[in-house]
Amino acid sequence: MAPAQVMTATEAPSITTLPLVAGPLVEYRPIHPTFGAEATADFSSITSELVDEIKQGLAKYGVLVFRKTGLDDARHVEMSHLFGDLDDIAPFVSGLGQKNRLTSDYLFDVGNVNPDGTVMQPGTMRDLLLRCNYHFHADSAFNPRRAGISLLLAHELPPAELGGDTEFADTRSAYEHLSEGRKEQIKDWVVMNSQLQCRRNANTDKNGALNPLLDTDEFDPMKHRFGIHRLVQLHEPSGRTNLYIAAHAHHVEGMGIEEGQKELKGLLEYVDQPKYTFRVKWRDPGDLVVWDNTCVLHRSVPGSYAGKYKRDLRRTTVHDMGPQAWGLNEVGATWRNGLD
Ligand code: OGA
Ligand code: MN
Repeated sequence: MAPAQVMTATEAPSITTLPLVAGPLVEYRPIHPTFGAEATADFSSITSELVDEIKQGLAKYGVLVFRKTGLDDARHVEMSHLFGDLDDIAPFVSGLGQKNRLTSDYLFDVGNVNPDGTVMQPGTMRDLLLRCNYHFHADSAFNPRRAGISLLLAHELPPAELGGDTEFADTRSAYEHLSEGRKEQIKDWVVMNSQLQCRRNANTDKNGALNPLLDTDEFDPMKHRFGIHRLVQLHEPSGRTNLYIAAHAHHVEGMGIEEGQKELKGLLEYVDQPKYTFRVKWRDPGDLVVWDNTCVLHRSVPGSYAGKYKRDLRRTTVHDMGPQAWGLNEVGATWRNGLD
């Protein structure tokens, strides 16, 4: 994986040229020339005005990093409800016979703490499945209704020098820099997304051998439904166009599977360039990173903390509230990819 770093992207529009409907409640310090900001706000008073302003900031920056918010689980969830309809983990907990360690089904337990409170060990099934998160993705691209905004809150962090950062990619700028010919070629592509594709790829060695634990029908993308979404979409909040590509992408509708997979891999590699990416270092419990899955990608970075230290991060996930939320899936469908 290419290391992400902050670089001056000469062809990229400067973030300062992008419009922002500034309000009085949130302050921004850009992180990267084209997206992302460190932001400050007072979370002791959570109001719809504050949430509206954060949404305006997200329309421009795509990713906002708030330090030491002081939020706990209850206020994290309470604030998230003000962003829109929340996704919940209940189908996964009951569908897979798992136990939820956390007090709310609105909290996705994306760190490495097992339900019994121990640190997840490399090679366990939970670790194998979480490896998908090491690849650039958009949350819930594989479900009938995709995710809009995600809010990830740190509860306990490993020592800073042992890794566990989160990286982001700017898929609006990446789209804008494609040649006109390429834009024309891909403009109507429809992508079939599966979480299982990402999980399998994350557990395939460099010789192409799949970990036998995932070589079952349960993990076969072709044996389950896909989340079907257009590759090229208008990002309504900013009026810019987004390249909606993620590690969940399995194939392109109407194209040979192999050919489509080659194209999708090429697009993911194209987005994964330093000029479109930056890295967030988590510093303290209470750090909150909020992103819009409909205009940026994210991934976690492996670290030597694994198996030794807790990295307890909890995410709320707001369903996409926009007109393209359901993509080409049946509106109102309740199935979840992999459990169908
Ligand atoms: C997520 C996710 C990345 C990380 O919460 O959706 O992918 O760094 N997290 O844990
Ligand atoms: Mn994610």
